[in-house]
Amino acid sequence: MSAPQKDAITETCTFVIFGCTGNLAKNKLLPALFNLEVENRLPADMQIVGFGRQPLDSAQWRDQFESHLCENAKSSLQSEKIAKLKSRLHYFNGDLDKADSFTRLHNYLDSKPDYPSNIIFYMAIPPGNYANVSRNLAKAELNNEHDGWKRLVIEKPFGRDIESAKSLEVLLHRDFTERQIFRIDHYLGKGTVQNVLVFRFANLMLEPLWNRNYIDHVQITHAETHGVDGRAGFYDRNGALRDMIQSHLLQMLTLVAMEPPAQMDAESLRDEKVKVLKSVRAISRDAVAAHAFRAQYSAGKILGQSVPAYTDEPDVNKDSVTETYAFLKLYIDNWRWRNVPFYLRTGKRMAERSSMISIRFKHPPQQLFRPTRIESLTPNWILLGIQPDECMRIELQVKQPGLEMQTRTTHLDASYADPECNHLDAYEALLLDIMQNDSTLFLRYDEIQLAWQIIDPVLQEWAINKDFIPTYPAGSWGPSNDTRIFDHDSQYWRNSLDFLQK
Ligand code: BG6
Repeated sequence: MSAPQKDAITETCTFVIFGCTGNLAKNKLLPALFNLEVENRLPADMQIVGFGRQPLDSAQWRDQFESHLCENAKSSLQSEKIAKLKSRLHYFNGDLDKADSFTRLHNYLDSKPDYPSNIIFYMAIPPGNYANVSRNLAKAELNNEHDGWKRLVIEKPFGRDIESAKSLEVLLHRDFTERQIFRIDHYLGKGTVQNVLVFRFANLMLEPLWNRNYIDHVQITHAETHGVDGRAGFYDRNGALRDMIQSHLLQMLTLVAMEPPAQMDAESLRDEKVKVLKSVRAISRDAVAAHAFRAQYSAGKILGQSVPAYTDEPDVNKDSVTETYAFLKLYIDNWRWRNVPFYLRTGKRMAERSSMISIRFKHPPQQLFRPTRIESLTPNWILLGIQPDECMRIELQVKQPGLEMQTRTTHLDASYADPECNHLDAYEALLLDIMQNDSTLFLRYDEIQLAWQIIDPVLQEWAINKDFIPTYPAGSWGPSNDTRIFDHDSQYWRNSLDFLQK
């Protein structure tokens, strides 16, 4: 399976970033390239070309990169590595909408004999521009592989719904072959997400339990304390369901639910994920209210600081009913999972930053140790902490010390993170995979199409109900009335690894 420490050959290339002064480039791509520099993972002669509309020169872009990196660094940075990465950065002034900018780009790249002719084109730009940029690249023959490979990296969301995803796919394939296209979902680059597969398929003892006979339900939570952080233009048009659930959370669901693949190669793994998505029970339009819940944050406090309501954030429409919180209940109609609910939720401005997969087991068939109803016995949980706490925890019941036959919860921890080890993050791992031509952790189009098919009815229903959206105070764990979607009164959100706090 793909992993950043693997020994595959990292081929040299020119890395072109469209949208090189935007949030994604500043906050994720350039820091990831810097970390790869620190780890000596970048090919010696690799060059990075930033394509942007702002009238900058290379020196100005390099300075912007350095000051942003240093402002956000948690510890001191090696100055010789900063200098090395800066020496690779070159700014190219162009307009995404103008075919002529791409002809100039081609001429510019040709005029630099020291720039490798293998090229990665990274679309760190609004999704509405993907098809246009792909077309302009093709018109300028920058898709042509006669003198080196050309790869195109597409960020999520891939389309806005199933129809727009289909047409984007057709348009991209007019200009690039499937082998050249890398559809990124950065969650698949996270070591903790990949660890779900290792946890399941390298530990035989879990397999007999991993099914509808023993598992009561599965929760996949992604909570963050951030708001829209300068991305209101994008976010207000998309909302939490499109932004997080259609991609990252459904991908995590496939890893929890899939059958073991025949091999750990790209096609076998993606075939199994596709089977899960195909088995997800369709939500009909009239069942949306029973399966999905949305809400938006109102003003509140995060870590003691007052924060405004979503509709008071800069660039957000005052009447916006865009959801910043979404909760979806899904069933997977196959032999392993039939009638086991999968609860997926995501929210911005929540009480804590926490992503976690929580698997709750059923109650033992007979209550022997406490004179209470079976329903009140504490069940076993498996908790897979994705971030910030990277861990695998199994909660068990043990006897309380003393004469009484009482139980209490304890846990077995298989900590994943080694504090001594310098982890490469999701983007680092995925950028290396692109350079190594490994598409295992990238999405195949059929996965994306099926993911849209699952959420489209919810999007359509929400789109016609524009008058009202429930709210939750910023800094809380979301709306309190969403729990009506749970299948059973005994089910509740698991917000924390700590079993004392629900
Ligand atoms: C992005 C979403 O894909 O993932 C953002 O567009 C979200 O809205 C982010 O904040 C979360 O990623 P991570 O890695 O910080 O959990």
